[in-house]
Amino acid sequence: MPRLEGGGWWSLPGTRSCGFLECAAAPRQPSGPADRWCCITVNATTTDPRLDGRPVKRIVYDPERIARRVRDLGAEITAAYPDGTLLVLGLLKGSFIFVGDLVRQIERPIQIDFLVASSYGHATTSSGDVRLVYDPETKLEGKHILLVEDIVDSGRTLNRLMDLLSTRRPQSLEICALLHKRTATHLRYPVRFVGFDAPNEFLVGYGLDHAENFRHLPYIASLQ
Ligand code: PRP
Repeated sequence: MPRLEGGGWWSLPGTRSCGFLECAAAPRQPSGPADRWCCITVNATTTDPRLDGRPVKRIVYDPERIARRVRDLGAEITAAYPDGTLLVLGLLKGSFIFVGDLVRQIERPIQIDFLVASSYGHATTSSGDVRLVYDPETKLEGKHILLVEDIVDSGRTLNRLMDLLSTRRPQSLEICALLHKRTATHLRYPVRFVGFDAPNEFLVGYGLDHAENFRHLPYIASLQ
C-alpha cells in the first residue's frame, strides 16, 4: 500500500468529486510486514482553517484545474488580438486573483486597469443595485477593451458596465469571465471568453467572496 504523508489534491476520474486531503501515516509496528500497519488519517477540505469552520458542499475547481484553464484562456486571448492596443479591465474585487494570473498568460503587449463595482453586499443574491465605486482613469477610446469578470450570475453587473463602457468609443469591447452560470437570461452582451460553465451554487474562493470572506481560497468551493 503506498504511504501518503503531507497533503494533496484528490479527484475521482469522471466525477466532480475532489478535495484536499491532509494525510498522516501512523508509525509502523516493528514486527509487522512492511506497510501492513500503515494507516492514513484524512481530514476533508472543510477542516481548511481558511474556511473558519464554514462547511462547504464540495470543491468545484481545484487549483490545478484553474491554472490549466487560465493558461488556455491566455492563449485564446493572445491569438484573438493580433494587433492594436489591448486594455485589460479587471472588475474588482472578485476578479483580483483571476486577473493577476490571466495577464501573465497573455503573450502580447497589454495595459491593465480596474473598475470597482458592487451589488451583493452581505447577501448571497444580487441586490440588483450595481454601484460603480471606482471608474478607470485610463483612456478607453480607440483601444481593444477586455472586461474581465470573475463570475456571471444574474448578468446585471455586466449589463450595467458594458452599457457604460460602450459610450467611451473603444475600438472593440469584449468580456472574459472565469465562471459563467448560464442563468443570466437578461444578459444583453455575449461573453466571448469563458473559463468554465459553473453550477448554479454559491461559489467562493479564488477571488469570490461571501460577505468579504473566503476570497483567498486557492480553489473554488460551493458553500453549504
Ligand atoms: C459579484 C461578482 C460579479 C457579480 C456577478 O460581485 O464578483 O462581479 O457579483 O453577479 P451578477 O451577474 O448577478 O451581477 P459583487 O457585486 O459581489 O462585488 P465583488 O466583486 O466585490 O465581490
